[in-house]
Amino acid sequence: MTLTAQDPQAANETHIQDLLAQMTLAEKIGQMTLVEKNSIAAPDITQLFIGGLLSGGGGYPTPNTAKAWRDMVRDYQDRALATRLGIPMIYGVDAVHGHNNVYGPTIFPHNIALGATRNADLVRQIGRATALEMVATGVYWNYAPALSIPNDIRWGRTYEGYGQDPALVTELALAYFEGLQGVDGDYDLSRPDTVLATPKHYVGDGGTSWGTSRMVMLGREYDIDQGVTELDEDALRATHLAPYLPLLPAGALSVMAFFSSWGGYKMHANRYLLTDVLKGEFGFQGFVVSDWQAIYQVAEDYYDAVVACINAGVDMNMVPFDYKQFIATLTKAVEQGDVTEARIDDAVARILRAKLALNLFERPFPEDDSTAKVGAAEHRALARQAVSESLVLLKNEGGLLPLDATAEGILVGGAAAVSVGLQSGGWTIEWQGKDGDITPGTHFLDALQAAVSPQTLVAYNRFGRFDELVEGQSAAGPAEIGIVVIAEQPYAEGMGDRADLTLGDEDRELIARVAAQSERTLLILFSGRPLIITEELEMVDACVAAWLPGTEGQGITDVLFGDKPFTGKLSFNWPRSMAQIPNGQGGEPLFAIGFGLTTN
Ligand code: GLC
Repeated sequence: MTLTAQDPQAANETHIQDLLAQMTLAEKIGQMTLVEKNSIAAPDITQLFIGGLLSGGGGYPTPNTAKAWRDMVRDYQDRALATRLGIPMIYGVDAVHGHNNVYGPTIFPHNIALGATRNADLVRQIGRATALEMVATGVYWNYAPALSIPNDIRWGRTYEGYGQDPALVTELALAYFEGLQGVDGDYDLSRPDTVLATPKHYVGDGGTSWGTSRMVMLGREYDIDQGVTELDEDALRATHLAPYLPLLPAGALSVMAFFSSWGGYKMHANRYLLTDVLKGEFGFQGFVVSDWQAIYQVAEDYYDAVVACINAGVDMNMVPFDYKQFIATLTKAVEQGDVTEARIDDAVARILRAKLALNLFERPFPEDDSTAKVGAAEHRALARQAVSESLVLLKNEGGLLPLDATAEGILVGGAAAVSVGLQSGGWTIEWQGKDGDITPGTHFLDALQAAVSPQTLVAYNRFGRFDELVEGQSAAGPAEIGIVVIAEQPYAEGMGDRADLTLGDEDRELIARVAAQSERTLLILFSGRPLIITEELEMVDACVAAWLPGTEGQGITDVLFGDKPFTGKLSFNWPRSMAQIPNGQGGEPLFAIGFGLTTN
């Protein structure tokens, strides 16, 4: 990096060198250590010079309130600032669709939905709103955006990808990145209202092959998550590396490596990709953070694993539990010469470069005590708009949509119609997400009831049994409209790897039951990926892919009843059958990327 005197970074580079000259090996290795909040003994933050802390999925304080988050992070920061050199720690979270570990934030649609909007400016605003909600809790580091390009939608992380077109993924990921790290036209990361973004997961996370994962989590064997990316280098560069290229010059200073493998190496030990390509060829000046416990996967012997990964180019280790073991191991490796002081200094310089660019030394805490931004009305309005623009209309026989808000009777079936949790999917309060009223929001049924006329009778039954309609009114023949809301059970990561994406008998029976009691029927899907619905489409008059919309369910009814038009377009191919997965095989998909019916 060539810096000239007037370059604002010049002062930072001088600061880095000054700090490095003073730092002991223990202080340097402490900066390279990222610990999850439930594993840290608070005094160790000061004693061991810990450089970073994080909440994994669901890593919230008790009570899980915005204020409790602020207080928790402030305590950690106070302890970091109490070290000899007063280097602030940085706190990271996966705010992948809003500040989603916190109770009460705006939960935006997941990336698969944002891909369907094709609206980069909207996505940039979502990044900005997310940053504001994070800063209000003192959290300045987001493990997002995902640059994943999911080639096989059986992957449990499909919904974290914006789409299967690298150009679209690049455009939307850059927009979100800009929203996190700056304000329109002013992408100065040192502003007090920015957070450090982390393009992830480097590289080829969405290109792994089914059956190549060796990961077992909570007794469940992953199938494709964390597997092997079996692509040649040209294909890897053209698809999975391409989205990183614009983000680096845009100011990316943290990149997360993935658990997957390429070219015969686990990514965390892949010196060619981590150092020669990312840092050398692409000129990345920030730091590579490992993924959760990823270093352990690299070798049977922990010492060998640490040496391999740090030498390959990992700069900060998301341990996240046994940080003392990591610190001792890396210290031994340096003392034995298996890891050079120069490599340590390079890693620490990169970490300090990001903290200085973020102005963390000057703003270790939020400017004011307000947590009002968390779940703010203007952010929920933005999320509502995003939901509306993300809906994809797959079928609309006889012009059922837009629905008539003065219809006499509407039947609604499906547990997902009354669950903000199912509407939000994984990475929501809990790592795997959870059914039910898990955080303040508007579920579909409430949104529907708010949208129809007072004369319209809305009957809800999760099983689609309407023998006894509400208020004792007997069923007077079929209802004008039947709506079935079907959802995938929430999941995250490899816990969502799924061999069969067809709907189950229970869902099919529910659709049949509601359709039998309705003149015309609408199917709404809450899913993290396209599902195999070729048969079920024949059972209904209309079908909407709503993805995982989050807390603002009124964004759905705004479009269903015609206040806003359907504009969403698929950013994934929608397979006709399982034979068309992975992407691109088995002939024409049921609906191709770009498909979406419109209404005026
Ligand atoms: C997880 C994910 C990664 C996340 C990290 C911290 O395992 O792979 O996306 O940022 O751990 O939660």
